[in-house]
Amino acid sequence: MDQLLQQIEEYKKEIGQFTNGDIKAVEEFRIKWLGTKGIVKSLMGEMRNIPNDRKKEFGQVLNDFKALVENKFEELKEGSRIEETAAGAGLDLSLPGDPLPLGSRHPVSLMRNRIVSIFQRLGFALADGPEIEDDWHNFTALNMPEFHPARDMQDTFYVQQNPDWLLRTHTSNVQIREMEKGKLPIRGIYPGRVYRNETVSARSHCFFHQVEGLYIDENVSFADLKQTLYFFVKEMYGTEVKVRFRPSFFPFTEPSAEMDISCTLCKGEGCSVCKHTGWLEILGCGMVHPNVLQNCRIDPNKYTGFAFGMGIERPALLKYGINDIRLFSENDVRFLQQFASAI
Ligand code: DAH
Repeated sequence: MDQLLQQIEEYKKEIGQFTNGDIKAVEEFRIKWLGTKGIVKSLMGEMRNIPNDRKKEFGQVLNDFKALVENKFEELKEGSRIEETAAGAGLDLSLPGDPLPLGSRHPVSLMRNRIVSIFQRLGFALADGPEIEDDWHNFTALNMPEFHPARDMQDTFYVQQNPDWLLRTHTSNVQIREMEKGKLPIRGIYPGRVYRNETVSARSHCFFHQVEGLYIDENVSFADLKQTLYFFVKEMYGTEVKVRFRPSFFPFTEPSAEMDISCTLCKGEGCSVCKHTGWLEILGCGMVHPNVLQNCRIDPNKYTGFAFGMGIERPALLKYGINDIRLFSENDVRFLQQFASAI
C-alpha cells in the first residue's frame, strides 16, 4: 500500500511538470504508466502479495488510480493532436475545402419576392401585419359586420382563449392596419400567410399565402388600378399574355372585379389546368369601399383608392410545374433542393 501511495505521489509530481502538446512525451507517459511493463500493470501484479483482509482497500485505490491515469492519457493525447494540427503538421493547404451544402429559397418565397419586387418598382412599400388578428381588422372594418354572409365564405379558425381573436383569413387585415396609422397617401404591398379551415388536398390547404396591394390618395381611379395590374402582368407573365377583368363582389371594394390572364400553359387554347376555358383567375381587386375608408378615419370625399389581393401558391404551382400544394409544407429536401437555382 505504501508503494502504491508513493507511486501516486510521483505521478502527481510528473503530471505537474508535463509539457502539453508534446507527442513524444505523451508516448513516454503511456509506456511508463500504462505499458505492459508499466507501473500500473506492475502494481496490479502486487495484488497477490496483499493479505486478504486488505485486498479490497488496495484494489479500490489502485483501480481509481488506474482510471485517473487512463483519463489523463486520453486528455494528453487529444491535446497533442490539436497542437499538431495547429502547428500545421500534415496540413495540405492546397486541398479543396469541405463542401458546405447551401440551402435554397422556398418556391413560395421565390414567387412572393417576384410579385413584391414588381410592385416595389412602382413605389409600393413593403409592410406586414399579424397572423393572429382580431375580428375588427379581419372582418368588421372591411365592411363585413357580424352575420355578414361573406364571412361564411372563409371558414375561420378562432382562438380558444378569446372569441374575438382568429387566424387571419386573408392579408386584407393589413390594409386596415396601414390605413389606421393615419399617414396618407398609402402605396403598399403586403405579403403573408393566411389560414382557412379547409380540408387539405392537392389543390387546397388550411394555410397558404397571399399578397395584398393598397393605394390610397386623392383622385385614384379604376383606370389607375387597371394600369397598375397591366404592368404587373406584363412583368410577371410577359407581353404575350392577355388580361381580362370580370365584375365580382367583395364587401370591402366597390366596384369589385376579378382579373384573369390567358392560360400560360395552353396559351388560351384550353387545357386541364385552365379547365378548358383558356383563362386563369389570378386576383381579386376593386376600389376601396367608402365604408372601409370611414372605418379607418379617412374621408371618402377627399380620398379614393384601390386594393387587390392574390394567392402565391397557385402562380408558384404554375410557374414551377408542381401538381400538389401539400409539397410546399412537407419540408422534403428532395423537393426543396430542386429550387436551388430557380429565380
Ligand atoms: N381578401 C380577398 C380574399 O382573400 C382577396 C381580395 C379581393 C383582396 C379584392 C382585395 C380585394 O384587396 O380588393 O379572397
